[in-house]
Amino acid sequence: MTAPSTAIDFHSGVNQGVAPVTYGEGERPPRGNYARARADYTCEQDWAAYTPAQHDLYRRLYERQAAQLPGLACKEFVEAVTHLGEPDRIPRFDELSERLMRATGWQVVAVPGLIPEEAFFKLLSERRFPVTEWIREPEEFDYVVEPDVFHDLFGHVPLLFNPVFADYMQAYGAGGLKASRLDACELLARLYWYTVEFGLIATPEGLRAYGAGILSSTGELRYSVTSPEPKRVGFDVERIMRTRYKIDTYQRTYFVIDSFEQLFQATAPDFTPIYARVRQLPPLEAGELLPGEPRFPPA
Ligand code: PHE
Ligand code: FE
Repeated sequence: MTAPSTAIDFHSGVNQGVAPVTYGEGERPPRGNYARARADYTCEQDWAAYTPAQHDLYRRLYERQAAQLPGLACKEFVEAVTHLGEPDRIPRFDELSERLMRATGWQVVAVPGLIPEEAFFKLLSERRFPVTEWIREPEEFDYVVEPDVFHDLFGHVPLLFNPVFADYMQAYGAGGLKASRLDACELLARLYWYTVEFGLIATPEGLRAYGAGILSSTGELRYSVTSPEPKRVGFDVERIMRTRYKIDTYQRTYFVIDSFEQLFQATAPDFTPIYARVRQLPPLEAGELLPGEPRFPPA
């Protein structure tokens, strides 16, 4: 799931289920069947409805991406990706949830597509990770705008097997519910974007990716870790909250953590005064550097 940001339009007007949610400024039609969703936006995964061609598409996406992981993905991800099971078919969320529950107490739950941010935060705070049930069309093999079942499972679920990262995700959900009350969701969404979706980690072997948006992308995985073009700067909560991001190109800035412990500890303090401070500062554009700010070299 890509955290819905303030760019999400919330359409009403369906009689059953819940209102669909779209990405961007509302020009794109909503994707997914929201009529089957419960009030909390979860639904049953209609596993029997996937066609052999859809299972095969999942397998091809998985195999292409798995082949790229060595030297680019962090070891925690590489070790955990096998928990998704054999890639010959789209996993059954209930089976995956059993394994995840034993490892870290998380579950995956099906959702029809993008969901409103409050519903998203609430699920995370309950250690339930929403996974889009639909898979992209074959023409979208290389790029899909909205997150689909491949992005959500392959990108996000492996690190939910890591105890520290799993706790970070729950804390993020609880922090999101609080940010909603403080009208700070736009600032908090940047933290999700630059960590959960596009985060890099410095390891003894060099820079590696841990963000789901990179790990599920065919082109950006290598680009983010090895290209000399983008800016890579050290993880800093306030710096991230000031930084705008691009949703339709490779990122211009990546933030680098030292460890998942650092990520968890640096985000533990109460953000209320941080939001207040960041609101006083001018935002930074994607790709902008502060004077004298050190950059990490590519791997
Ligand atoms: N510490 C944050 C707060 O008080 C909550 C949070 C934790 C947010 C982890 C994001 C990630 O709002
Ligand atoms: Fe995502």
